[in-house]
Amino acid sequence: MKIAFYGTKPYDRAKFEPMAQTYGFLIHFIEMPCNAETIFLAKGYDAICIFVNDHIDAYMIDELCKMRVKAILLRSAGYNHVDLKAAKDRIHVLRVPGYSPEAVAEYAAGLLLSVNRCIHKAFYRARDFNMNINGFMGVDLYQKTAGIVGTGKIGQAMIRILKGFGMDILAYDPYPNDKLPVEYVTLDELFSQSDVISLHCPLMKETKHIINKKSIAKMKQGVYLVNTSRGALIDSEALIDGLVAGKFGGVGLDVYEEEEGIFYEDCSNHIVMDEVLARLMTFPNVLITSHMGFFTKEAMDAIALQTMENAYAIENELPLVNKVL
Ligand code: NAI
Repeated sequence: MKIAFYGTKPYDRAKFEPMAQTYGFLIHFIEMPCNAETIFLAKGYDAICIFVNDHIDAYMIDELCKMRVKAILLRSAGYNHVDLKAAKDRIHVLRVPGYSPEAVAEYAAGLLLSVNRCIHKAFYRARDFNMNINGFMGVDLYQKTAGIVGTGKIGQAMIRILKGFGMDILAYDPYPNDKLPVEYVTLDELFSQSDVISLHCPLMKETKHIINKKSIAKMKQGVYLVNTSRGALIDSEALIDGLVAGKFGGVGLDVYEEEEGIFYEDCSNHIVMDEVLARLMTFPNVLITSHMGFFTKEAMDAIALQTMENAYAIENELPLVNKVL
């Protein structure tokens, strides 16, 4: 199996290179992202391996099929970045589901704690021996209500953590799980009754901009919003309007609608042209990080192993348990 590996970062190479040797696979590590210009680098390979900001459209799928590439190996659980309709019955698309739900949930809880108690800002003040705590007052999470949107693997891990804080949990999921210690409610009820809202559903047509002007209007004054799922679950313009109106106690975002070309890159010496992201960064109660909820040792080990297992299944015509379609 020969794999063209796009968007390689040093930490990817460190995990995948030894694993590929064990499986006897040849990986060509490419630093560039996968896009219409770079797709041709996949010529001669059996599969491509991509990450969350490599968007594969119908044109690129046509080109992959022409080059006889057999599979798209996603190093992610989410698969919204591949045109699945165009791929259907033409090229395998395999993902790595549930590689470490705890990694993402623990990070979501970390964002919530940081943005609520201003830990990230307190560090900078204390480092300068400015020990003034003015402006850092947060709220107790104990006995407050958290609303979890999407009670799959990550949502469940988040529920366990927030239960540990002594929070009451409301949840919304079109496929409720009656074994969970939560009260399932409608989305509107969740929006209007939650002190903290954390998003853990996939990005799909039905969930795009699930947080919008109307849903924000239904939320409690001072609500905390955390998104570690996918950026486009939130209408960023509506979020900015809500922030300007003083609706939110805090917002923690690990993901953003337009990550491509910015997230995972060092843009510190560039003029960032994304006015929406730049505006979001200006709010004192918004904490943005670079889509790194997955980034733990355990999760990276599991991503590399599951990706190699997916490639092995294709090579050996075994059942493709992680096939997206
Ligand atoms: P999962 O498939 O176990 O759970 C997703 C849940 O969302 C399911 O229970 C499903 O029924 C529910 N759902 C489907 N449609 C819904 C809707 N309209 N409204 C509310 N819920 C709905 O997925 P998992 O592993 O929990 O991951 C969730 C998402 O987290 C992924 O789709 C991905 O976008 C994101 N993610 C983010 C990472 C990061 O580094 N920040 C890393 C891994 C995943």
